[in-house]
Amino acid sequence: MTDYKTILAELAASVLDGADAAAIAAMIEVPPNPEMGDLSLPCFKLSKTLRKAPAHIAEELAGKLPAHPAFLSVTAASGYLNVFFNKSSYAETVLGEVLRAGDAFGAGTIGEGKTIVIDFSSPNIAKPFHVGHLRSTVIGNALYRIHRFLGFRCVGINHLGDWGTQFGKLITAYKLWGDKRQVEEGEIEELMRLYVKFHDEAESKPELEDEARAWFVRLEQGDEEALELWRWFKTISYKEFNRIYELLGVSFDSDAGESFYNDKMGTVVEQLKEKGLLEEDQGAFLVRLDDYNMAPALILKKDGATLYHTRDIAAALYRNKTYGFDKAIYVTDYAQNLHFQQWFKVIELMGFDWADRLVHVPFGRVSLEGVKFATRKGNVVLLEELLRQSIDKTRDIIESKNPQLEDKEQVAQQVGVGAVIFNDLSSNRIKDISFSWKDVLNFEGESGPYVQYTYARARSVLRKAETAGADLAAAAIAGFDPALLENAEAQLVLKELAAFPDKVLVAMEKLEPSIVSRHLIDIAQRFNRFYHECPILVDDPALKTARLALVTGVCNVLRTGLGLIGIQTPERI
Ligand code: ARG
Repeated sequence: MTDYKTILAELAASVLDGADAAAIAAMIEVPPNPEMGDLSLPCFKLSKTLRKAPAHIAEELAGKLPAHPAFLSVTAASGYLNVFFNKSSYAETVLGEVLRAGDAFGAGTIGEGKTIVIDFSSPNIAKPFHVGHLRSTVIGNALYRIHRFLGFRCVGINHLGDWGTQFGKLITAYKLWGDKRQVEEGEIEELMRLYVKFHDEAESKPELEDEARAWFVRLEQGDEEALELWRWFKTISYKEFNRIYELLGVSFDSDAGESFYNDKMGTVVEQLKEKGLLEEDQGAFLVRLDDYNMAPALILKKDGATLYHTRDIAAALYRNKTYGFDKAIYVTDYAQNLHFQQWFKVIELMGFDWADRLVHVPFGRVSLEGVKFATRKGNVVLLEELLRQSIDKTRDIIESKNPQLEDKEQVAQQVGVGAVIFNDLSSNRIKDISFSWKDVLNFEGESGPYVQYTYARARSVLRKAETAGADLAAAAIAGFDPALLENAEAQLVLKELAAFPDKVLVAMEKLEPSIVSRHLIDIAQRFNRFYHECPILVDDPALKTARLALVTGVCNVLRTGLGLIGIQTPERI
């Protein structure tokens, strides 16, 4: 995107003796009120280097700034240089760039030659796929798409929790109370029932815990019976997870879960020993982190079993060797902050210079208090039910608003799922969020359906224009008269479109997809205002073409933006 700040900064630097253009560019602001200009340079920031009063600098700039086609006028006001764009030139530049770039508007090359490993979703087999995993899935998927758009090579890994003591528990429960047919029919729900029953019973019968530990040790030692049950449980859970991933439109480059590292743990333990980091403590092994005010990282239990930490360290070594990442991120609930701080520190203490490439991306809790579920056991089911409920409710809304719609089922799915995704990405990830159908499915609020509906409405205008014989191609290749987009509503839409590439970039830098989601709301709101105030299918062909060009640009950017956060764009709602 043409960088107006740089253009202005260079002009300013050419007038001011001893000022640096890059430094000036960084000082330039967008005034809160457009009446004060489109850009503004606070001259007090320059007065120290230039040894002049701010008002003096502003006056000097206003008087001497060379003319430029992008800028209509400049004024000095209380120490600020205010710059007003040439609105027609602005429309021509911005919309021209948007239309010419098409789907690639906002794409970048900043990630070229760089690799990012994204560890996300990562539910636990035989434990609930809870709403936190949904959030990890949605945030991780958005980060994946944003990075890919900026040229990074992305490796998405579902670090499935497919190993650990919970399998000992599940095997124990199955042996005691399970039934093959029941598991086959009840699938994950039945596994959940067994898992929950284990915990209920173990409260009064602690020997069950010993039995479970023994089964897990057998599993770790490669006992065939244990392995066979484990594989079976895993297949069953997978089926369920895959249904959810399919609904969400999410996939991974690797499903290497915790069990994948079983044969890679030995070297971790050896290296820790060699480096003098491993300490024995009542038969268990750990790395002390007292110097860093953290509890120790447990590496081996008394019975030799490995732990969550051990597996994460092994996985990081493997990923570094296999992918040679520039950054490896881990998307989980903030409840795991300490876990990641601990083992990141262990990697650092092991002397690996890539320790600082590991980044935990924590997010807040989701409260589902406002949601009523049919009383079925197990959160996996709840999660799928949540998505299904959203689809059902969307279908009802469509049924009442637009009963004629074709592909109702598909649209209900795209909008129902999009609504849940958008809700997860609607505020800073670290914030706890609540879930209320009223907000999630509010077609007029700051929601996924609102943005999708805006897109569909814009597309419908384009279709109508085309049927009426308008030259959409001319609109789409920037063959429009930019002077017809000088009105305030159009200019505000253009500003939002122009900001899109930067928002994507900042979302990548801050690992914060909500920056994109919120920007899409801004675009949609500005566009709806324009749509309301400026009839598009007017008689004047030139005016019509110019407005259609803007509608086309808005469609492009909304589609790209929604795609970046993993949301689909139905053509009709
Ligand atoms: N399975 C874990 C959980 O549900 C999340 C795993 C996150 N990734 C990782 N490499 N630790 O809590």
